[in-house]
Amino acid sequence: MVAPRRAAVIGCGRMGAFTSAGVRAHAPACWFPLAHAEAVVAHPGLDLVAVADMDAEAARRAAAAYGAARWFTDPLALLEEVRPELLCLATRTPGRAALIEAAIEAGVRALHVEKPLCNSVAELAALDALFARPDVHVTWGAIRRLLPPYRAALAESASGQHGRLLEVSVHMGAGRLFWTHPHSLDLLLFAAGERDVVAVSALLDGVETAPGEPLRILSDPGVAAAAMQFADGLVGRITRQPGCDLVLAGETGAVAVEADGHRLTRLSTAEGEGYPAWRPLPLSAEAAPVGTLAALLELTACLDGDVERCAANARWKRDILMAQRLLFAAVESNRRGGAAVPPDEVPAKLVIEAITAGRPA
Ligand SMILES: NC(=O)c1ccc[n+]([C@@H]2O[C@H](COP(=O)([O-])OP(=O)(O)OC[C@H]3O[C@@H](n4cnc5c(N)ncnc54)[C@H](O)[C@@H]3O)[C@@H](O)[C@H]2O)c1
Repeated sequence: MVAPRRAAVIGCGRMGAFTSAGVRAHAPACWFPLAHAEAVVAHPGLDLVAVADMDAEAARRAAAAYGAARWFTDPLALLEEVRPELLCLATRTPGRAALIEAAIEAGVRALHVEKPLCNSVAELAALDALFARPDVHVTWGAIRRLLPPYRAALAESASGQHGRLLEVSVHMGAGRLFWTHPHSLDLLLFAAGERDVVAVSALLDGVETAPGEPLRILSDPGVAAAAMQFADGLVGRITRQPGCDLVLAGETGAVAVEADGHRLTRLSTAEGEGYPAWRPLPLSAEAAPVGTLAALLELTACLDGDVERCAANARWKRDILMAQRLLFAAVESNRRGGAAVPPDEVPAKLVIEAITAGRPA
């Protein structure tokens, strides 16, 4: 029998270890196991050997809850002493890029990291180079693309039954750029597939800059509206409509995932009707592994050398980097009054601290 791979979790808050009661009560079943530690212990090929949190009590509590043999308050000590093969990173964003770098330096080759990826364009440039390595596999907390309702919607749209895909919309209510919209952008890029992003335009509110430093954004701005142009004319939109929905609209109809995957619906015109109407679709009860476990299974398949999964992960790594770049481009667009900004026109010195109520995203 093959020995399980050594895994570790750094950051033992809600995403790392203890899913909030609200999410447990309301999110669809396909989101679970959601907490990284819970997903690690649900994975038959992983052994949770250690956890770390700078708050000793959080680390101790997570180690006890999930049976990790060791706990640390210093993530670098964990990396040095434990040398995990797979690492989950669920700290807040500041320092995340440096931890990813340190992990890869310590030999980690599979990382599941929370969103957003980093706070600055400079950090993103360093991650660009690291993610380009074919032996480094990365997934992130924007996991909807792995969940069955989203895959079903994308398959229906790709089947061509609604004609050519024209518009992808993500409705996330009053979401903030760094806290919420890595999810929206990951979905838009997933739906866009191989199409290149031409430009993003965005109108933000609540943008607070550091005194005398226009390129240092202190707040996590609200997104009033954002639009992405893709190479073949596809448009991606982020709106403030409440509900956590994804809508894939083609020439003759549409398919939507509503309420984070609670419902799947189709817009189509029935025989004899003059106008299309939304109708519910059955949600498949497939037994595929879901939640964060699905991401960890992708990563371990990559570590096992599964060529198809490695190719899929290379595409996801590209999308993760682009989603993060588009968060920066959205700020640049807003600085230019909502103008269309190509992703490579983000200022090299842009930093987004993304602080809300005293805490970073
Ligand atoms: N994927 C999702 O759906 C989703 C949902 C909520 C939050 N998030 C993201 O997940 C991340 C964590 O969010 P959360 O709600 O779990 O936060 P949290 O505050 O509940 O937990 C973060 C934990 O990380 C620890 N920590 C922070 N920096 C550390 C460091 N350098 N070394 C060791 N420990 C450190 C903190 O002590 C804390 O226990 C955030 O970046 C957030 O944006 C993702």
